Amino acid sequence: MNKLLKFLWSKWYLLFIAALAIITQCYMQLLLPEKMGNIQKLISDSSNNTNKILIEGGWMILISFSVVILAFIQFYCASYVSSYVGKKLREEMYSKVNSISLADYNKYGTATLITRTTNDVEQIKNFMLMGIRILIMSPTMMIIALVKTINVQSSLLLILLISLITIILGMILLLYLASPLFKKIQEKIDNLTIVFREGLTGIRVVRAYNQEDFEYKKFDITNKDLTNTYIKVNRILSFANPFVQILFNFCFIGIYGLGFYLINNISCNVNFITEKVTNTITNISVVAQYCMQIMQSFVMFAMLFIMLPQASASIKRAVEIINIDTNKDNEEILAFSPDYSNYQNELDSLYDEENKKLQPLIKKFESEYHKKFNYDLIKYQISIMTEKDYEHSSLKKDFNEYNKIHNKYHLKRKEVRAKYRHNVTQNLSSSQKENIINDKFKNHNLKGIIEYKNVSFSYPDTDVPCIKNISFKTNIGETTAIIGSTGSGKSTVVNLIPKFYKVTSGEILLDGVNINELPADIVRDKIGFVPQTALLFKGSIKSNLLFGNKEASDDEIINILKIAQAYNFVSKLPDGINSFVSQSGKNFSGGQKQRLCIARSLIKKAEIYIFDDSFSALDFKTDAKLRAALKNYTKDSSVIVVAQRVSSILDADNIIVLNEGEIVDQGRHEDLLKRCKVYQDIVASQLDKDEIEKTLKLKERVLNEGGNKDA
Ligand SMILES: Nc1ncnc2c1ncn2[C@@H]1O[C@H](COP(=O)(O)OP(=O)(O)OP(=O)(O)O)[C@@H](O)[C@H]1O
Ligand SMILES: [Mg+2]
Repeated sequence: MNKLLKFLWSKWYLLFIAALAIITQCYMQLLLPEKMGNIQKLISDSSNNTNKILIEGGWMILISFSVVILAFIQFYCASYVSSYVGKKLREEMYSKVNSISLADYNKYGTATLITRTTNDVEQIKNFMLMGIRILIMSPTMMIIALVKTINVQSSLLLILLISLITIILGMILLLYLASPLFKKIQEKIDNLTIVFREGLTGIRVVRAYNQEDFEYKKFDITNKDLTNTYIKVNRILSFANPFVQILFNFCFIGIYGLGFYLINNISCNVNFITEKVTNTITNISVVAQYCMQIMQSFVMFAMLFIMLPQASASIKRAVEIINIDTNKDNEEILAFSPDYSNYQNELDSLYDEENKKLQPLIKKFESEYHKKFNYDLIKYQISIMTEKDYEHSSLKKDFNEYNKIHNKYHLKRKEVRAKYRHNVTQNLSSSQKENIINDKFKNHNLKGIIEYKNVSFSYPDTDVPCIKNISFKTNIGETTAIIGSTGSGKSTVVNLIPKFYKVTSGEILLDGVNINELPADIVRDKIGFVPQTALLFKGSIKSNLLFGNKEASDDEIINILKIAQAYNFVSKLPDGINSFVSQSGKNFSGGQKQRLCIARSLIKKAEIYIFDDSFSALDFKTDAKLRAALKNYTKDSSVIVVAQRVSSILDADNIIVLNEGEIVDQGRHEDLLKRCKVYQDIVASQLDKDEIEKTLKLKERVLNEGGNKDA
């Protein structure tokens, strides 16, 4: 909210001009009834007043003309300010969305992030445009008109007061009925965006399955739902207009009734009676116009309040995004730093304390229960408790006790972290935090050795660990492969390295430093990452590769394309490396996209390369050639390859076999083939002995030919 006001205030001079223009406009507008009254009096006067009437008429034209110019000025300033606030809000939200963690990104979802940055900001902008003008115009108009009414005919004030109170009550009632529906509307717009987006991105699947009707129905239901809510709101709001009109008319009846009563009671000298009657009639019609202005301003004011619930729902939704704490990571790193605190000591002593308290229970699990029921602690920790387990009441008691202690210390550690974060960072601005961290790490020469130590991880909002007790180490110039059935957690393991998610327990070390103590951008700087879904951006092949290294020359790009076995098809395109890439790289085949994504990561010259199932769409020969070329290119880096195909990882220095989130075994192909049942099964399901021989021979041949010759 402060940000919103700050943006608004940064254009104070325009607000000031708008306010000045509005106040003058109100004053001028209210001169018109007065001039009209003067003309009426001049007409009823028996003497020849044509010139005076023309002068008054001239004034009226002049005043009307200035009102138009002032209205233009105030509208221009107000729209400029509201558009500026909208632009700043969108900028702020977009940069926030770009820097939030993947956990937060998943929590909100793409659809709501899109509607919040577009539709909600639009609502806020429109509300501001109305708000700036009405908030100044209505009170000004009312005050000036009230003063003028009192001056002309104070006895009419009572009618005005009764009408205003009735309007207030009516508007409160409308507000009460409509405001919950406005909140619903924003949520339903989110739903519509989800359905629309899903239908568009999945258009090929929809068509391949002939499910256009089904998708249309889904859209239709969501669309109708939104429309019905809009209709409900508008049905309520539609009462506002007739209600106000009726009130206007009653008000006029009251004013003219009072006028009639006043004229009836005029008793004085017959010579003066006509003049008095004329004066009263003129006053009544002038006051009627003032009343009209007062009530119109009030209605405008009330309409602003009716818009308020919708705008405040949008403001809340936008501010929620802007307020996502993206600094937590930096704060944690600062709090970790020995320069600032003995934070780690306090955490360690809490771990020790917890461990001491848990030891008797752990022993019990390890000896008594494990022997008796064949259940180990992991099983308890991840709460795989069946009804039958609970029958053993002593086990249940100990398990609950274990959880109680564990949760208590978990909370204590959370408090310590929060306290240190606060202590260390309370007096630092975001940019100061960033500067300290950048200074601290600028000369950090990271080589790229990754070590997992007992890493477990659960996705946010799930309790069951997705990967458990993962431990392995990579080395420079070596390839570490991860293989396992689909859903075994391979991508999850590698996604933890670029800090997309934070580990739940255990630690990932980069050259011996816990990555939690390193800023995300420093870690990511060291990584050439090829995600499982190959994605290119709209532009050219060259612009996509420059994404990996913006200083790369054309020659370097061509060389990298050759290593990635992509130059063969790129050179055949009419524009070569400048060829057009459509949105998400849709004008390239799956295998071509994969090779371009590999090239994008290689051009970065990273210390760590991660290929998540990046060779799956390549044919056998290209796969072999690419790996042979990579071997040479990545000899100073550590390489992690996730694969489904055994043939892609036969020559890896360490193969990690994953099964249901746990490492079953790790080692070289030959060793695993001898001792690991899961690995044997995977190999048997994919290759027979001859094929393995053939693959190894092909690899040798390709290596001898020189890997970076293009396919
Ligand atoms: N964002 C997420 N939120 C919650 N659960 C997730 C998320 N991503 C993956 N999972 C779950 O984690 C488990 C492991 O998924 P992961 O993508 O790591 O498997 P994988 O071994 O890479 O599979 P594949 O070979 O199909 O790529 C799956 O059971 C999946 O349901
Ligand atoms: Mg995967």
